[in-house]
Amino acid sequence: MRRSHQSSASGVRRSHARQIITLVALLGALPAPALAGRHVPRPELHRLLKHGRISRVYPNTRAGSNASKVVEIEFGSAKLKALFKPRAGEVWLRENIAPGTYYKRESAAAAIADALGIGHLVAGVVLRRIEGQDGALLGWMDDEPVTEPNKRRIDRESAEQLRAFDYVIGNSDRHAENLLGQVLGGRFIPIGIDHGLTLPNGPLTEFRWPVDWVDPVPTPLMESTVAFIQSIDPARVAAILVGEGIERVAARHALRRLARLKRSPQVIAVGLHGAEAMVQRVSELGRVADQGLTTREINAIEQVLDHAYR
Ligand SMILES: Nc1ncnc2c1ncn2[C@@H]1O[C@H](COP(=O)(O)OP(=O)(O)OP(=O)(O)O)[C@@H](O)[C@H]1O
Ligand SMILES: [Mg+2]
Repeated sequence: MRRSHQSSASGVRRSHARQIITLVALLGALPAPALAGRHVPRPELHRLLKHGRISRVYPNTRAGSNASKVVEIEFGSAKLKALFKPRAGEVWLRENIAPGTYYKRESAAAAIADALGIGHLVAGVVLRRIEGQDGALLGWMDDEPVTEPNKRRIDRESAEQLRAFDYVIGNSDRHAENLLGQVLGGRFIPIGIDHGLTLPNGPLTEFRWPVDWVDPVPTPLMESTVAFIQSIDPARVAAILVGEGIERVAARHALRRLARLKRSPQVIAVGLHGAEAMVQRVSELGRVADQGLTTREINAIEQVLDHAYR
């Protein structure tokens, strides 16, 4: 009885030791978990996305209308996760945005967000050639689905800034899957992804914004959002668009929307009639080719474009 107890105790010890050895071996063999984009400062993220060694490319289980692949980039003993959207995998989706240019629009939109000081509200993007294909490579962003209790903690300022950004870049694709959620400092922050269908070569055909992402309190825009809108420099936006290879006609409509938004920032406020009415109202305004600007304002925009696109 004693003997058998002793032998079963040493058996347990042996089996513990075996488990520990197996765990250590497994941990050694396991790849380091891939980091999401928000854990890496933006300049470093861009450097890694652009030049980092690609260790793995595999299908994106959440792929949308266009082709996309998950990419892992190794640096030191760490890994970075990213999403690759190849130019060749772009399908026709909008009248005035040619497939084969979405990847540039991804990059241009992120560059504008950076210049406006809201780079933290979008995924970082670089252009890169992977497996022989050109495309946009986006830093992976964490995603926490919006659930009822979270709705109440939506960071209103971030959502308003992102809405202003979407109007200026003419985003017709801000549906719920193109906003990811991150909880930071107890607030629910919207992160914009998928900016291929932006900067149309004409007026904005439809403005979309998931109503779950609008602070349900019917209020005007925050003062800080109005100040953010007024601070946007059209010449800076034009310079970025030129640098990113975006067509002049797309830049023209972006600057017209910007001028109109500066004149009436409250158009993107929830207002008294609620989120759905706001989306409808902004959609209607987006379709107006001259944005209700005066000839003088239109000409001033052309001068900015002449300077940028010379
Ligand atoms: N940077 C990212 N970080 C984390 N997940 C991402 C990222 N980019 C894309 N995804 C995931 O992959 C999905 C498809 O990507 P994306 O929306 O860019 O592709 P799409 O084909 O252009 O989509 P759509 O059908 O909306 O036009 C997203 O809905 C999201 O779940
Ligand atoms: Mg999408």
